[in-house]
Amino acid sequence: MEAVHEVLILGSGLAGLRAAVEAAQVSKDELDIAIISRVQLMRSHSVCAEGGTAAVMHPEEGDSLELHAWDTIRGSDFLADQDVVKLFVEESPKEILQLDHWGIPWSRRPDGRINQRPFGGHSFDRATFAEDKTGFFEMHTLYDTLQKYASITRYAECYVTSILIDNGVFQGLVAWDLATGEFFLIRGKALVIATGGACRMFGFTTYSLTATGDGMAMAYRAGMPLKDMEFVQFHPTGLVQPGILITEGARGEGGYLINNKGERFMEKYAPSKMETAPRDIVSRAETTEILEGRGFEGPDGLDYVHLDLRHLGADKINERLPLIREVAIKFAFIDPIEQPIPVRPAAHYFMGGIHTNIDGATPVEGVWAAGEAACGSMHGANRLGANSTAECLVWGRITGEKAARYAMGQKSLPPAPQQMVQEEEKHLFGRIGRGDGSEDVFAIRTELQRTMDHNAAVYRNGPDMEEALKKVRELKGRIEHVKVEDESRIYNTNILAVLEAINLIDLAEVIVAGGLARTESRGAHSRRDFTERDDVNWGKHTLARYTPEGPRLDYIPVNITMWQPVERKY
Ligand code: FUM
Repeated sequence: MEAVHEVLILGSGLAGLRAAVEAAQVSKDELDIAIISRVQLMRSHSVCAEGGTAAVMHPEEGDSLELHAWDTIRGSDFLADQDVVKLFVEESPKEILQLDHWGIPWSRRPDGRINQRPFGGHSFDRATFAEDKTGFFEMHTLYDTLQKYASITRYAECYVTSILIDNGVFQGLVAWDLATGEFFLIRGKALVIATGGACRMFGFTTYSLTATGDGMAMAYRAGMPLKDMEFVQFHPTGLVQPGILITEGARGEGGYLINNKGERFMEKYAPSKMETAPRDIVSRAETTEILEGRGFEGPDGLDYVHLDLRHLGADKINERLPLIREVAIKFAFIDPIEQPIPVRPAAHYFMGGIHTNIDGATPVEGVWAAGEAACGSMHGANRLGANSTAECLVWGRITGEKAARYAMGQKSLPPAPQQMVQEEEKHLFGRIGRGDGSEDVFAIRTELQRTMDHNAAVYRNGPDMEEALKKVRELKGRIEHVKVEDESRIYNTNILAVLEAINLIDLAEVIVAGGLARTESRGAHSRRDFTERDDVNWGKHTLARYTPEGPRLDYIPVNITMWQPVERKY
């Protein structure tokens, strides 16, 4: 079977939906657009975004594009490309207003103007929010807007297994329809990859089960370089025990972080910003407190610190943080109005991703990437909170437009490589999970998570990462021995688990190899054996290219157009 469209959007989170709307809009609903997603559209991980979307909305009160750019670049530990950041801060306020016009219920001030709250590393209240369910409302608004366009076809619960490229030009996607079991080719002129991150390679994470980096891994194996993958963000407040996000908005609204001595320990680490310092700094501070015995003993080794909201009072908690209260009650049996919340750093975001230019274009003709799957180098070594939902909207729009214009300029579709689809089908249903049964995929996934949690998390060092690399390579070999007993094609979640594990292992190898090579500490990559930032030798981006033996690393310069690197102090 073969499906034919013009613009393919792979992924249905914020970036994907925003790209689809834009492609439909610029083509006046003329282009044939398909959204392909492994989940039902409103189940993408973006619905879990809580705290806000950063944009300069109140310049009359002292905020400015320049200040937002400076905060972002300083937050990135000077690894962000500054031209990209400049474009971002200029575009993000337009996206806030665009969503407003499409009907999003932004939280407002008493005078009716859009409200904003403080967020980590921002020197102005700049996180635009809709209670503490910002991603959910953004997704709903985009989903509703999509209904206007007749030209958009949706493939939900459809798992793409590879991206086909010939001579550097995009050809199509190979897809497995989980509901019917059908395996087929989706042809198109242009592709936007918006498949999100891969934090599920860590055991303690804020991420949904489906965040397994499939798009990044496929792009990598198809020949697209991955950039700056060693930089993984740990969010300071993952709820112990499940890891669910407790929004930074809770600290933005005034919450305290407290150790077992009752101290607001951020005083020692970031005296001017305290709990709203950037995430890399707060996560290191919490980890230090826990390692030095000032944390609380948690279940399964998940020691924690307290996030105390009690002084905010019931009214503020109920008005601004209703989801946080509900999550704490339901998942930790704690009511934040009366008790502090147990939290610790949780894997939350990939600063790295598929290498793109400022327009979101990958090196492959006809392929763009947006959102967390992409690395256009706007977050550098550490992303500021609320900058990612904004990035999804900004580059969702840009890539949607670019892909649509490209598709409109192409007279014909690239050739259909049916034979590659047949080969892939044989591989998927004849080889994957057809080993001797001496290995179990779920045990392999658990070992991968343990390794990444212990050896490649908030603090790293050479020997730990060496060990992680060895382990990841061992797992790569062992997964060949997995046997999946279930041979059906419909919702075969066991084969799916193997495919996801292959993707996670490939990406973990890139993270660890890149981290080992980078002998410095910068942003979220913090090494005990190389504690200083080294701008002379490491003020550059890592590019990892796929080879069967493991990633080949290369480096490209950082684009510094406005501010030279200086010491980062908060
Ligand atoms: O804390 C949060 O609400 C997360 C926001 C983000 O990752 O940008």
